[in-house]
Amino acid sequence: MKLAAALGVLNVASALAQCEAPVPCTDPTLLALQISDCQKHHIFVARGSDSGYPGHLGVLIEAVCESLEDCGYENVVYPANSSYAGVNAWCESAAIGAKHAQEQMTSYAEKCPDSKLIVMGYSQGASVVLDTLGGGGGPVFKCVQENNPALDRTKVPGSNIVAAIVFGAAVRTAGQSYTAKGRDALKGGQDFNGTSPRSEEHLAGLNPYADILHDYCNFGDPICAHGSEPMDVAQHLNYFKIYTEEAAKWVVGTVQGRKMTNVQSSAPKSSSVSSKGTPTATSSSTATSASTPLSAALSTSTPESKAVKRWEVFSGVTAVALGLGAFVF
Ligand SMILES: *[C@@H]1O[C@H](CO)[C@@H](O)[C@H](O)[C@H]1NC(C)=O
Ligand SMILES: *[C@@H]1O[C@H](CO)[C@@H](O)[C@H](O)[C@H]1NC(C)=O
Repeated sequence: MKLAAALGVLNVASALAQCEAPVPCTDPTLLALQISDCQKHHIFVARGSDSGYPGHLGVLIEAVCESLEDCGYENVVYPANSSYAGVNAWCESAAIGAKHAQEQMTSYAEKCPDSKLIVMGYSQGASVVLDTLGGGGGPVFKCVQENNPALDRTKVPGSNIVAAIVFGAAVRTAGQSYTAKGRDALKGGQDFNGTSPRSEEHLAGLNPYADILHDYCNFGDPICAHGSEPMDVAQHLNYFKIYTEEAAKWVVGTVQGRKMTNVQSSAPKSSSVSSKGTPTATSSSTATSASTPLSAALSTSTPESKAVKRWEVFSGVTAVALGLGAFVF
């Protein structure tokens, strides 16, 4: 690899690292891709717990949109609360995520019937994406998530989805065809369930999407590969350092290799998902505090800075010393 190209990748990565924290993302290239107009390629992004929008997936969004013309993203609007916020917080948050993702996709696909839809999720957001497509709900961590129905693959907006990719999903099941297979020791997560397995019904709901779905789960990731010893939270946090390039290739190749499965774009609007109450596109990631550097945010005592500190713990900086038991996702 050429040195300049390698450095370019590093620069992008460090600029985007800030976008993983619970403060508004200030990366101008990424923010320029947040577009609600009709586009040929429109990405829905579900971030991980306690991140700001759009979180860790920023590097992948940029890499994918570099290769696809007329491409941009919107955030799945949901709180992404970790269990730190309370015993039911994760479940309530994920249920809102799946509901909003379905509503946002329905609303976008009605407005833009010719747009190819792409879905991405990380950590809690990965679970949310799987719930959105295949149906979700049930016990996870110490709570019970409310059920939501699957998105019908044969109807808008399910029929307009051309690629879905998830990393480190909390609720997932071993041995699925769409899980990235271990060409190296890392991707050993295919043999393990997540924090909880998906129910039979929800696995069946995902099957119609299997050919356009890719699930990354590292061996040792305590969230998506529960019981793969030794578990190490670093394996939950390194997906975009390791796989961004190959994941982007997979997304682009899958998108370009496929047509939407609906033949007429005037498909009936009888989707099982109501488009009422669709959340408006988030404004929280626009540049309100764009000039606040992360270090300044850390030195203040706002609730936001507490969230940043919690995020740092969450990110494993100090967490390694605390032991896995201290983690909240
Ligand atoms: C849950 O997430 C929302 C939005 O990210 C945040 O405003 C709220 O403070 C969180 N709740 C708790 C209890 O941390
Ligand atoms: C995963 O969960 C399923 C469903 O509960 C269970 O049948 C299976 O044995 C589990 N597999 C592993 C590897 O834990």
